[in-house]
Amino acid sequence: MPAFANLTVVDHPLIRHKIGLLRAATTPKKLFGELVDELSMLMAYEVTRGLEEHDVEIETPLERTVARAVVGQDLVVVPILRAGLGMAVGFLRVLPTARVGHVGMSRDEESLEPVEYYYKVPHHDEVRRFIVLDPMLATGGSALATISGLKERGARRIVLMCLVAAPEGVGALAAAHPDVHVYAAALDRELNAAGYILPGLGDAGDRLFGTT
Ligand code: PRP
Ligand code: URA
Repeated sequence: MPAFANLTVVDHPLIRHKIGLLRAATTPKKLFGELVDELSMLMAYEVTRGLEEHDVEIETPLERTVARAVVGQDLVVVPILRAGLGMAVGFLRVLPTARVGHVGMSRDEESLEPVEYYYKVPHHDEVRRFIVLDPMLATGGSALATISGLKERGARRIVLMCLVAAPEGVGALAAAHPDVHVYAAALDRELNAAGYILPGLGDAGDRLFGTT
């Protein structure tokens, strides 16, 4: 397995345990959604580690003291529709003041090329941090096109948070956007001929929303 300088695999027993449950074909829709939610909360903890903080004076029941606070509004989570929506819910549980942008990106089943069908994202201020959310990084086409779209509109500080990444997608992202770091819960072996991640978890959107 190649080492990728642009990738952090978030390394924790709870994450490995929950990813195993998520992969199992026997995991029903309800549990699948709960696991995506919980994994997104756990990963948000790692992805926001470098968030700017500042001092705030507060009053405890006993005395005045200085606490630390983050400015959640400076952060924009950008779920890629559909499957990224499941991750946004978990992320917002940890940082509810984060802004939310929506990008609709669908992979053409034949060409595997991404097609943008929706775009509504808060102001692309240079200082804002954008966290793109998508459970699957397969060929990288959807993430790459989303990140290009954000950059074209002025965003500069962008990271990608996914659950399962394929080496092909991580490599494609490193080549196209070397400034964008990828956080994943797992790095899998490879893609199959249809562009699915192996061992993977199947079609994340279909499993999340019960599309069969
Ligand atoms: C899935 C997934 C990613 C994309 C990954 O979405 O959620 O967005 O495929 O594949 P890529 O890295 O090769 O682009 P899909 O296009 O199936 O749309 P959906 O979320 O509506 O199911
Ligand atoms: N999209 C998915 O939902 N799953 C994959 O394995 C690849 C792309």
